[in-house]
Amino acid sequence: MPRPRILVTRRWPHAVEAMLSERFDVTLNPRDVALGAAELGKALRDYDAVLPTVSDKLPAALFEAAPLRTRILGNFGVGFNHIDIAAAKAHGIAVTNTPGVLTDCTADIAMLLLLSVARRGGEGERQARSGNWVGWSPTHLVGTKVTGKMVGIIGFGRIGRAFAQRCHFGFGMDVVFYNRSAIDPHEAARYGAEQLHTVEDVLAISDFVSLHCPGGTENHHLINASRLTAMKPGAFLINTARGDVVDEQALIAALESGTIRGAGLDVYEAEPNVPEKLRGMENVVVLPHLGSATEETRTAMGMKVVDNITAFFDGREPPDRVA
Ligand code: DGY
Repeated sequence: MPRPRILVTRRWPHAVEAMLSERFDVTLNPRDVALGAAELGKALRDYDAVLPTVSDKLPAALFEAAPLRTRILGNFGVGFNHIDIAAAKAHGIAVTNTPGVLTDCTADIAMLLLLSVARRGGEGERQARSGNWVGWSPTHLVGTKVTGKMVGIIGFGRIGRAFAQRCHFGFGMDVVFYNRSAIDPHEAARYGAEQLHTVEDVLAISDFVSLHCPGGTENHHLINASRLTAMKPGAFLINTARGDVVDEQALIAALESGTIRGAGLDVYEAEPNVPEKLRGMENVVVLPHLGSATEETRTAMGMKVVDNITAFFDGREPPDRVA
């Protein structure tokens, strides 16, 4: 029987590409140039499996060009809001993701952003690197103390919990969170955290608000102008979730007016575009979507995709099926 034809849309860690090539008839993307809509549409007609990632947009329209050959989308990443899941389902295409393996590294990046924006790490690094530092002084680049402050987490899944743990047990912070479903208080206490009823309850008392909920329609612009205004004066916003969870224009306005003190961002509404205004603000730390970017995690993510599509083509249930 011919081996399933697989398309990998971007370059992946070498060990994962090697394993895919052993098991499947694989087309790789050694140049690592993102595919356009036409190429992705063609891929759905030509390959048994397409392995996309966050840089590939797969809206409903792309699934209309029947007959489709693709039976599974093995997404490289835990977030899958770039795929129209309903359309994939309607065309009988399974979708899998890669949960669990990027929890710690993404929580680390949220912590890095929190510390950087509070302690003015980006500004300091730019100053030292440019040779503009004129020496130590009692009032030089004075930031905000983290220990003892309140952090509010929106979304208490795996990454939200790992972040709570770091904040509470690592940095002596108090932690509250909002989560759509109720979390057992004993479970929350393991992470040093307490659940509040509404997003507004969290915003009102938090010195730092960190977003850990999924992107997509349900959380589109969850943080909008009125919620930014509802944040505690002088608070900071951290986003390592998805860009569309925050209304970027409202965020820019809130930063310009001083409604909030600063922001640490790893994700944006129209990646890779980081709005010029955000890039120009000293009180904003901007990273290029690095949450899961460690050798260990990216390899583990790829291996999860291998497990998912191997199970699928062996006739077993893929372990991380989301549709
Ligand atoms: C994820 O896994 O969702 C990362 O943000 C990369 O897509």
